[in-house]
Amino acid sequence: MHEAALLADEARYCSFGDTVHYSDPKIFTRCEGSYLYDGEGTSFLDLQMWYSAVNFGYANPRLNAVLKQQINTLPQVASQYLHPTKIELAKIIAQDAKKKWGHDGRIHFNVGGSQSVDDSLKLVRNAKGKNLMFAFEGGYHGRTLGATAITSSYRYRRRYGHFGDRAYFVPFPYHFRGPKGMDKEEYGEHCVQHFERLFESEYNGVWDPKAGQSEYAAFYVEPIQGTGGYVIPPPNFFKGLKRVLDKYGILLVVDEIQMGFFRTGKLWSIEHFGVAPDVLVFGKALTNGLNPLAGLWAREELINPQVFPPGSTHSTFASNPLGTVVGLETMRMLAETDYESMVMGKGELFLAGLRDLQKRHPEIGDVDGLGLALRAEICEADGFTPNKPLLDKMVDIGLAGGLTHKGKRMGLVLDVGGYHKNVITFAPSLHIEKEEIELAMVLLDQLFTCAKQG
Ligand SMILES: Cc1ncc(COP(=O)(O)O)c(C=O)c1O
Repeated sequence: MHEAALLADEARYCSFGDTVHYSDPKIFTRCEGSYLYDGEGTSFLDLQMWYSAVNFGYANPRLNAVLKQQINTLPQVASQYLHPTKIELAKIIAQDAKKKWGHDGRIHFNVGGSQSVDDSLKLVRNAKGKNLMFAFEGGYHGRTLGATAITSSYRYRRRYGHFGDRAYFVPFPYHFRGPKGMDKEEYGEHCVQHFERLFESEYNGVWDPKAGQSEYAAFYVEPIQGTGGYVIPPPNFFKGLKRVLDKYGILLVVDEIQMGFFRTGKLWSIEHFGVAPDVLVFGKALTNGLNPLAGLWAREELINPQVFPPGSTHSTFASNPLGTVVGLETMRMLAETDYESMVMGKGELFLAGLRDLQKRHPEIGDVDGLGLALRAEICEADGFTPNKPLLDKMVDIGLAGGLTHKGKRMGLVLDVGGYHKNVITFAPSLHIEKEEIELAMVLLDQLFTCAKQG
């Protein structure tokens, strides 16, 4: 069917509610490595890989092969029966957590990130008998009703009535837009103290000193904010936060759905910050975006079958073999190659390229990165005032496929995040080549020049 006809049918027959739905939706027809291709064969260098769901490159031959094989053997068992790769995958993740944090634990699967966040909420509510959570301003945990309640944007709740279990949103140490006069570490400590103030007396509203109990069961964190704009906190921040949580008996739930699987150079991004989670939620890149599978790890005392019995959560497609076989192959692949050195090396190169671009384009107010999770904050020429219109223009030009390289038409796929929707959140393939990083900088330079002229 012709693209124009397809778009007309989409406008008529598809709900817009289940997509981001930009003004000019783009149709892609093929993908490979770091590239997406449209119907005319134009290649688009992808610097976002579906918000970090495809960390190991499009059409990764090794991961695709196990999926194809599984379709022909045992594609589903409807969460009723067992199959080997579910057990093998759970063992690898649980043993890795034990090695890193010294805690026994178990893995619990579901279909997508939001569903696994919901499962983690059940787990925490079951363990603590409380339904209120702390979460961060700028945090994103998904759009099921449960995950929406702990996601900071009111925009996602506004039309759905009152959320009695809406999280208490605490400021994240977003240094670039924090108060002036504090270095990054000082600001991190300041944010911890600001949070700890809540526990000073019963009149601060969250703590009963007589019972020694908090009204809040857990703190949901993204170690590096994803949708919030790839904001990297100071290295001391989570140690400070965990000290407060331990003191007041509050669980730490780490959402690794976007930053997990070596996006930041470690399997889990929380490993950069020297604290152990009580619950960890993962998704996206576990299957390299192939088949929906997500899940959580939790400490044994929270998840053992006596306290969290069979059927506590369920989906027909949870722990589906198509997903677990790819997840298992992903974990095996990660064990065979030094992804940490590879990602940190490529990340440095990418960051250096962005810093170089910043010298030529004062509209790039802030650049930062950890591994291959990188950010460029697009501003007015003062390098600070958020400039969403300029970034929107850049995204549109990139998606129109009208850039050129060596005489060939090309496009660029970028994602936008941030509190002011003015941040390019870069999540390229972890397998991106040095030449592709150089190409990214050439195309970004063209994009800036073009968008500023238009
Ligand atoms: C940090 C984080 N948590 C949760 C989710 C929700 O995951 P899903 O889209 O698979 O439901 C996302 C998705 O972008 C995310 O980035």
